[in-house]
Amino acid sequence: MAILPILCYPDPRLHTVAQPVNAVDERVRTLVQDMLDTMYDAHGIGLAATQVDVHQRVIVIDVSEERNRPLVLINPEIVWASAEMRVGDEGCLSVPGIYDGVERAAQVRVRALDAQGEPQTIEAEEILAVCIQHEMDHLLGKVFVEYLSPLKRSRIRSKMLKRQREERA
Ligand code: NI
Repeated sequence: MAILPILCYPDPRLHTVAQPVNAVDERVRTLVQDMLDTMYDAHGIGLAATQVDVHQRVIVIDVSEERNRPLVLINPEIVWASAEMRVGDEGCLSVPGIYDGVERAAQVRVRALDAQGEPQTIEAEEILAVCIQHEMDHLLGKVFVEYLSPLKRSRIRSKMLKRQREERA
């Protein structure tokens, strides 16, 4: 079990575009386990490898109440998204304490490899659809605050930098 450090916005490494995983080997399985440990430890519902400074297309999610239904998405691709959009409040382990509304497709169908390297297709709606789209953005180097107005974003940026200075002091 390993808890990995989570990058905090506005760390420029959060804008790195992740590369596809070539093979789901022991190294990737260890990464997945460490990411699950890190997500559960931080009480998050999703974590992208980008957030732990590993730039590979790996996501872990658990939106269950009981925190016992881990979902692992390796090389995820959205193969279908509903035309219907929905605005939901989002937060992020890389932007602690900030929650704001983001418009996303209400439903998505995602194809990905699971932790064993087997292909899986997931039909997602509600919070799972939001979470998948949010985490997939991380793999493209995008943080949810980038959907907010420039004013809000700059306020969040200042707040985060101030907090990081205080933590270092
Ligand atoms: Ni996030």
